[in-house]
Amino acid sequence: MCGIVGYIGKKNAYPVILTGLRHLEYRGYDSAGIALFSDGIKVHKKKGRVSDLEKFIEGKDVSGTIGIGHTRWATHGEPSDANAHPHATENGDVAVVHNGIIENALTLRSFLQSRGHVFSSETDTEVIAHLIEEMENEKSKSFFDSVRRALNRLVGAYAIAALSVREPGTMVVAKKGSPLVIGVGEGEFFVASDAYPISEHTKKVVYLEDGEVAALTASGIVEIRTIENEKRTPRVKKIDLEIEALEKDGFDHFMQKEIFEQPCAVRDCLRGRLSVPPKKAPVLNLGGLRDVEEKLFSAERFVFLGCGTSWHAGLIGRRFFETLTRVPSIVQYASEFRYEDPLVRDTDVFVAVSQSGETADTLAAMKLAKERGATVLGVCNVVGSSVAREAHAGLYTHAGPEIGVASTKAFTTQIAALFLIAARCAEKRNALGPRRFGELLETLRGIPEKIGDVLGREERIRDIAERFGETKNAVYLGRGISFPVALEGALKLKEISYVHAEGYPAAEMKHGPIALVDENMPVVIVAPRGEHHEKIVSNAEEIRARKGKIIAVVSEGDASFDSIAEDVIEIPECDELFSPFLSVIPLQLLAYYVAALRGCDVDRPRNLAKSVTVE
Ligand code: M6R
Repeated sequence: MCGIVGYIGKKNAYPVILTGLRHLEYRGYDSAGIALFSDGIKVHKKKGRVSDLEKFIEGKDVSGTIGIGHTRWATHGEPSDANAHPHATENGDVAVVHNGIIENALTLRSFLQSRGHVFSSETDTEVIAHLIEEMENEKSKSFFDSVRRALNRLVGAYAIAALSVREPGTMVVAKKGSPLVIGVGEGEFFVASDAYPISEHTKKVVYLEDGEVAALTASGIVEIRTIENEKRTPRVKKIDLEIEALEKDGFDHFMQKEIFEQPCAVRDCLRGRLSVPPKKAPVLNLGGLRDVEEKLFSAERFVFLGCGTSWHAGLIGRRFFETLTRVPSIVQYASEFRYEDPLVRDTDVFVAVSQSGETADTLAAMKLAKERGATVLGVCNVVGSSVAREAHAGLYTHAGPEIGVASTKAFTTQIAALFLIAARCAEKRNALGPRRFGELLETLRGIPEKIGDVLGREERIRDIAERFGETKNAVYLGRGISFPVALEGALKLKEISYVHAEGYPAAEMKHGPIALVDENMPVVIVAPRGEHHEKIVSNAEEIRARKGKIIAVVSEGDASFDSIAEDVIEIPECDELFSPFLSVIPLQLLAYYVAALRGCDVDRPRNLAKSVTVE
């Protein structure tokens, strides 16, 4: 949510920052802006996309070897030129870009106005610029110190990059609750909200910790201190990322590319962790869990935390854990968890699921679970992200960068990682016989190929999407492990095509929602073969009797929907426990094609951002 980019060195900062902003546009795209330092600070900002900013800047002075840039997802104040970042003081002496939310912005604004500061936007961020100026006026010993002291007055979350005319060769950056990475080059530094835009320039990075402030000049990191003024030593890490991973590779949209990457992504998630030696039992090697094995294998309860798609993955994870380990498991919305004064025991193991690893609600929930004595695992995609660093242990999903706002490969790799952890716990607890354990892991190993098989049915799903026409509502149904898949299918459709869609457990329909069904209502039923298959066939009959238009996702060769459904999409036969890996794929493709055929901006749907780093 909001992307920050900064450059300080010998090159012209503008192209470096502009390219970085393009890479970070998935984080927000309401407006964009740049501040460049050359003979004072020059701010250029515009409502709209980074491309709108680029057009706006054409012909203007973009000289300068120091600069900061921002792509915004609005929190305080509507998307507009005035509310776009960077925010500068009225004399233009200080400029700031910010990602996060300042909770005491109104109080600070009144205080600063009483001190004569004039505001030109409705944002919370602008108070930071004025507060820094206030500290500069109070004669801090350096610009760094002004920023540090200003940050002490803020309540909330932030990652910031700031410039001041007082020290033309310095950029000050800070982080608390929102991500910020510093790339270390030769005589130059890069700053960004995630490591990808940096990776094309350098593989050496410093991940700022919460509450740290750093001063950068072209010749080095001058200092890192906590906002309380304790000295810190920068820890330089090597990253293994390639910027090429951020290209569309001939696909029309990132979402489409990412749907098709799933066989490979799931394989990468299993790689090195699951091996099946010839004629021997499968072996699990989950090094990421080593530090917490004792707690993990004796846990009395598993609690899954996540938001959106990651919460849906948690619902499936819960089922994996209960089925395989027989340990009671629950799932919580991370955004609700900490407001419920939750009961947490030191025998609980929490599993925080997050693609970005930066979701503010998930992070806050994990912190609370830790404070109350639980062991916390992280299952996330972005290496070095806050969830990864906050967790006691965990697994990366290794899905590769996910740019499309709608999560696809994040979901299938999250459930793959959760299955691995559940299977390892079951193995250690002797909860499964060796035969069943072997069968399950063999099946898991074959999943990427089967996902590829479903992707081969793309044309058929596109045809169905064409027939969706101008439908404004849809219902998604599933039972048991297919219910979270129905929820995920409905979320995909609504977030990218703006078609109102609801997911329900199929048997709940007759308790109310069936009143919605008429001849115009598409009802997507997720019904792979399984223990209670005949029950969902009956639920489908109930829909059909009300003239609903059924699209059924069924196992290969299952004819039970032939006379009930308008359209049937087959997925390969597999143990029902693994069916979400396969049944979710047609739902992702359906949502994708409905949105694409309606001309929606698939990768950047309205009102959304990829990573929600505010509460
Ligand atoms: O990065 P996270 O997995 O923590 O993000 C959680 C949700 O914001 C995310 O899954 C969101 O619901 C997606 N847009 C769904 O496609």
